[in-house]
Amino acid sequence: MNSARSQLLLRCFVMLAIPAVAWSLPWDKDMQNQPSVKAQESVVETNADSVPIGEQELFSAPDGLIELVRARLVAGQTLVNPVRKSPESLERGRQLYQVHCLVCHGAQGRGNGLVGQKFVPQPMDLTLDYVQLQPDGQLYYTISHGSIAMPYYRQAIVAEDRWNVINYVKEVMGPDE
Ligand code: HEC
Repeated sequence: MNSARSQLLLRCFVMLAIPAVAWSLPWDKDMQNQPSVKAQESVVETNADSVPIGEQELFSAPDGLIELVRARLVAGQTLVNPVRKSPESLERGRQLYQVHCLVCHGAQGRGNGLVGQKFVPQPMDLTLDYVQLQPDGQLYYTISHGSIAMPYYRQAIVAEDRWNVINYVKEVMGPDE
């Protein structure tokens, strides 16, 4: 191959290659330019179908404290716990309590978990009649929607598992029969 021909081939190759490369430049930023959620970004709306949420209308954001209390009471009157207090349910509830609630409410539910001690107001003592006498649906609303300082768990714990946690809290932290 003479040198003029190889020069031409080289030019053809460069001309073909450059637009393709240029198109994807700067390639080192590709991973950054994506619709991902940054760490600690506050409200992350998931697709409506990503977690099976029933009773959708109960989850409109309560407009202040009075609305929160009202919505909770409505939930207490309308929602029925569909999960029987079986040993499996209690075991599942125990595991989830340890993952999600223990840090604030403490192993025995007394409201003195390590993280909870930093909270103002303090996490609720879950052994109190105030909690134990609430209808399951009311507790379900609190877990789903959070409370004044307490975060919500409707996107972290699927519906059935929220009932499992309630079964556990009532069985283990409730008054001795
Ligand atoms: C980050 C800390 C934190 C975590 C985690 C947490 N809570 Fe709470 N919780 C609180 C605080 C603080 C309060 C009291 C103030 C308030 O109502 O927000 C509270 C209140 C409550 C109440 C009483 C609500 C009422 O009727 O006044 C219940 C019931 C409850 N929590 C259950 C749970 C359960 C079950 C979990 C786990 C799924 C959980 N909490 C996880 C901090 C937490």
